Amino acid sequence: MIAYASDQDDMANKGWVLGIESTAHTFSFGLVDPEGIPLPSSSDTLRPDVGGIHPREAADHHVALAPQLLKSILAREDISSKEIELIAYSQGPGMGPCLRIGAAVARSLSTHLNIPMVGVNHCVAHIEIGREQCGCEDPILLYVSGGNTQVIARLDGHYRVLGETLDIGIGNMLDKFARNHGIPFPGGPVVEKNASRWLDQNPDASLEGLELPYAVHGMDLAFSGLLTAATKMVGDGKSLDAVCWSLQEHAFAACIEVAERALAHTGKSEVLLGGGVACNQRIRSMSRIMCGEREAESFVPEPKYCIDNGTMIALLGRLEYDQGRLTRLDESAVDQEMRTDQTPITWP
Ligand code: ATP
Ligand code: FE2
Repeated sequence: MIAYASDQDDMANKGWVLGIESTAHTFSFGLVDPEGIPLPSSSDTLRPDVGGIHPREAADHHVALAPQLLKSILAREDISSKEIELIAYSQGPGMGPCLRIGAAVARSLSTHLNIPMVGVNHCVAHIEIGREQCGCEDPILLYVSGGNTQVIARLDGHYRVLGETLDIGIGNMLDKFARNHGIPFPGGPVVEKNASRWLDQNPDASLEGLELPYAVHGMDLAFSGLLTAATKMVGDGKSLDAVCWSLQEHAFAACIEVAERALAHTGKSEVLLGGGVACNQRIRSMSRIMCGEREAESFVPEPKYCIDNGTMIALLGRLEYDQGRLTRLDESAVDQEMRTDQTPITWP
């Protein structure tokens, strides 16, 4: 086991936290400074010309990019590795080969620099960076990313999943729809562009003739029916832009509906969006409208903190470490299936 340099008594003297994100397509280092301020990440995302993200190819990408990304973030802040107090890394959930690269980098740095490490839950990191950036207190979280779609509330020391997708994540659905029409990864932003072009050209656009299946199932969601129906609709001759618009309207309205029910059930008054799909202007505006109607407030962080980033990992590492949590080498294995609600939330 590593002889860690710092112990709980030293925590008043804080140093920098280096966060490592590698759950899927993006490899990213991020920093939290000694005052606890998160700083922008140094990241690179694999963007295959054709097809989706292959875990092995993404892992190769991460190995190739890690050294230069680390050098660039340390140089940008003009700090040396000696000033780092803690290494935080995404321990799960995600693609095994990708997660293992981030964990290997974390172990090497921790051992080489003789500093502690903490493995954190990627989903919880998306939530905490949003709370930190937006200053909201106790929100309902609408976590809409590539692999995940969850409506979450903090209850009894855990982030409880009140509703989630029963099949694919909303981002994966948008990416697959885009890919079916020759648009490379990530397809979500292109679907958004196409949809807003349709709306510009058809300010009175209606869903008549563009209806897709209903994605809400109780408090849960399902998107593969939408994907199949939307793909068929283009095949049947509807314009791609029109279907992109309809797809967004249906998929986002379903998420907002579940978030609204969660507000009603829990009596909370804030909604926080997170995950890559929260970059989308339409889901942001739907959340604002719904919250406005309920006298609640909608929050969303800047896009760079919605997509995967090392900064959110560093931030969660800081929170966990300040509560006395460390990950020893023998417990540092990754967990592809880690659940949002399995991480105890011990910080305020
Ligand atoms: P997670 O591991 O948290 O499930 P992830 O690793 O796939 O998610 P994120 O970076 O959180 O990664 O999200 C990426 C997803 O966000 C992709 O599916 C991408 O298409 C989608 N996305 C990014 N920008 C937009 C946008 N403007 N509109 C819709 N989708 C978007
Ligand atoms: Fe993510």
